[in-house]
Amino acid sequence: MSRPARRALVLLLCGLAPAQPGAVRAPRVGAGSPACADARAVPGEPAADLHCITLLPTDAAPAATGTAELRWVPTPFGTAVTRDGEHVHRVRVTARGLPEPSALGPYTTYIAWATTPVLDPVVKLGVVDDEAGAEGLVAFNKFLVLVTAEASPDVEQRAGRLVLRGQSASMLMQPHDLPFLLAAAAAGGDSAAAAHGHGGHAHGEAKAAGAPGEAWIAPPMHPKVSMPEALMRFRPAVAPFLPSADPATLADAIPRRLVRLRDGDTLRLEAGLVRRRIRGRTLVMYGFNGQYPGPLIHVDQGTSIVVEFTNRLDMPTAVHWHGIRLDNRYDGVPHVTQDPVPPGGSFTYVVRFPDAGIYWYHPHHREDVQQDLGLYGNLLVRSPRPDYYGPANREEVLMLDDLLLADDGLVPYGREHATHALMGRFGNVLLVNGEPRYELSVKRGEVVRFFLTNVANTRTFNVSFTGARMKVVASDVSRFEHEEWVESVVIAPAERYVVDVRFETPGTSALENRIQSINHLFGYFFPEVDTLGIVRVAEEPAVPDHGAAFSRLRAYREVSAEIEPYRRYFDAPVEKDLVLTVELGELPFPMGPLVRMDSLYFNPVEWSGTMPEMNWIATTREVKWVLRDPATGRENMDIAWRFRVGDVVKLRLTNNRYAAHAMQHPIHIHGQRFLILSVNGVPNENLVWKDTVLLPVGATAELLLELTNPGRWMLHCHVAEHLEAGMMTVFEVVPDDAGR
Ligand code: C2O
Ligand code: CU
Ligand code: CU
Repeated sequence: MSRPARRALVLLLCGLAPAQPGAVRAPRVGAGSPACADARAVPGEPAADLHCITLLPTDAAPAATGTAELRWVPTPFGTAVTRDGEHVHRVRVTARGLPEPSALGPYTTYIAWATTPVLDPVVKLGVVDDEAGAEGLVAFNKFLVLVTAEASPDVEQRAGRLVLRGQSASMLMQPHDLPFLLAAAAAGGDSAAAAHGHGGHAHGEAKAAGAPGEAWIAPPMHPKVSMPEALMRFRPAVAPFLPSADPATLADAIPRRLVRLRDGDTLRLEAGLVRRRIRGRTLVMYGFNGQYPGPLIHVDQGTSIVVEFTNRLDMPTAVHWHGIRLDNRYDGVPHVTQDPVPPGGSFTYVVRFPDAGIYWYHPHHREDVQQDLGLYGNLLVRSPRPDYYGPANREEVLMLDDLLLADDGLVPYGREHATHALMGRFGNVLLVNGEPRYELSVKRGEVVRFFLTNVANTRTFNVSFTGARMKVVASDVSRFEHEEWVESVVIAPAERYVVDVRFETPGTSALENRIQSINHLFGYFFPEVDTLGIVRVAEEPAVPDHGAAFSRLRAYREVSAEIEPYRRYFDAPVEKDLVLTVELGELPFPMGPLVRMDSLYFNPVEWSGTMPEMNWIATTREVKWVLRDPATGRENMDIAWRFRVGDVVKLRLTNNRYAAHAMQHPIHIHGQRFLILSVNGVPNENLVWKDTVLLPVGATAELLLELTNPGRWMLHCHVAEHLEAGMMTVFEVVPDDAGR
């Protein structure tokens, strides 16, 4: 039996009719539970359909009602997933109006289960009755929730009569008119495109002759999601851009160098064109000081350095020091804290380091182009305390990235406006420190501390090492209150995590990105595994052996103590709200009708770009990503919040599930630091100071924002194309003695 046919049969057996297109967006409103209230556009409320499933009765118990609430699972990361990238939910089932079980047959109790569309595997959630609910962890991409009458509370297999059933929002993804629409679009490609004034755009054919960047090169198809060939005819409605230089005139970039700087030292930093060879292509890219990534800067906490920056690019730029609470005038944001540095121009930054940890620098001008082409580097800020982290045999600093490469070279960027305005520019080659393959050799039992930074335009990674134990120690601006064992690290653009990993088994351990991708055409999930690198583990034992210290999870009491004075604000009312959403103009054909189809399902995190030939054609001219202050109705740069130095503000972010195109957003705040107090009402029990928070689709997070640093600071989405599409605001922090 074919896969869809088998699924249809399973659905019928469960008494579940496949969803009808058009019925999908309606939130399934449940009774009784607050998380099951209709959350459409209500700040502070998680979206109903992603967080609540209404259970429907069968003929066996027509008066019964029930809900399955999908509660947030606390995690050190932006969202809880398995090592394979399946989202984990705490599913809580409650029911009312169930008949006496014995009335239905030889039964004594009701049991709630969660299972996949093919009914295997099954998770037993537990006994439900009018008094008590059942709950358990569920990590299926698509799932059913079932309540059955059973002979005993101890049964491990579902055998009795079904009384209630429901399905996850992801089940509503169905193969239906999407393929037909695309086929039609492809067949009528030229005329349809011409009618919309886009596809046949004057900026030329794919593969026309000429210098790079003078013609579009279409992104290659996703290897596992094929599209009608004719879709490759569509082009973004902007001119293509790539840095134009004859590669023969450029020097090969070299791997980054370590620069150790002491208090008051000066670093000369130059952004310029470089030649790179990646996967057999010779590419013209950008680099700081001719290196990839930029120089790795080691400094001590409490010091400051001078950076004499020169722009040798073919466009204006500036350097932003991400996560660092420095003087506002050196924050490197063109038109906010400085004028852009023109080609040939220079600017001197003074960067001070109040906090230990891993930080990074990148341009804040056309990030979608400049950062993607290689302008990024790390700063490792050392605490004076030798035991700041646990003992490790070595430290490795890794920048995770992706690059969009076609047979003929890089897929060009949009010259006047960014392309990839909806999903962001997903690359198809994953990079560690600018290379497609990372390698490390260690001895058996070595503890390696990895400092991870995600510098991709839009991709959220879910990375792990095979056959090695890992614990998470720190994130953006501090250590956690206590270390935790983790299966994988979910890291959104601009976030940092510090993990300790112990390689106990000789052989090789693979650094992998394991995710669940979606074939939107046929409505199913499929796993993707990319190997980012290899760690070779020798037989020879590591000396010293840090095994004993590694096996203990350390509590960082100084972190808790530092947070203590802020606890009195934890229950304070929310002072500021932001709703994250999108406004769509006239999208190029066939993207318009596609995006507006009610049946599109938005996963809490979109891990992969599975429709590259669709994704690239929307530009920031047609798409506006929005931060909206519901208190004033103002959006983006009009929001104009004002705070005073010393303020501690509770800020709530709600990622609107019902936006025309919903997606996760890594929201970053410059110059200050914040705590993530709760997500979807579930308190965070292991706090850490952050500068970037990942907001999955439909999620609401409450942040405690500490304002200590005066000036004009940005708050924005760190998906480069969302930033280009307007998803930013500037707030002002005035000195304590000034009026508010
Ligand atoms: Cu990484 Cu506005 O910054
Ligand atoms: Cu920043
Ligand atoms: Cu965004």
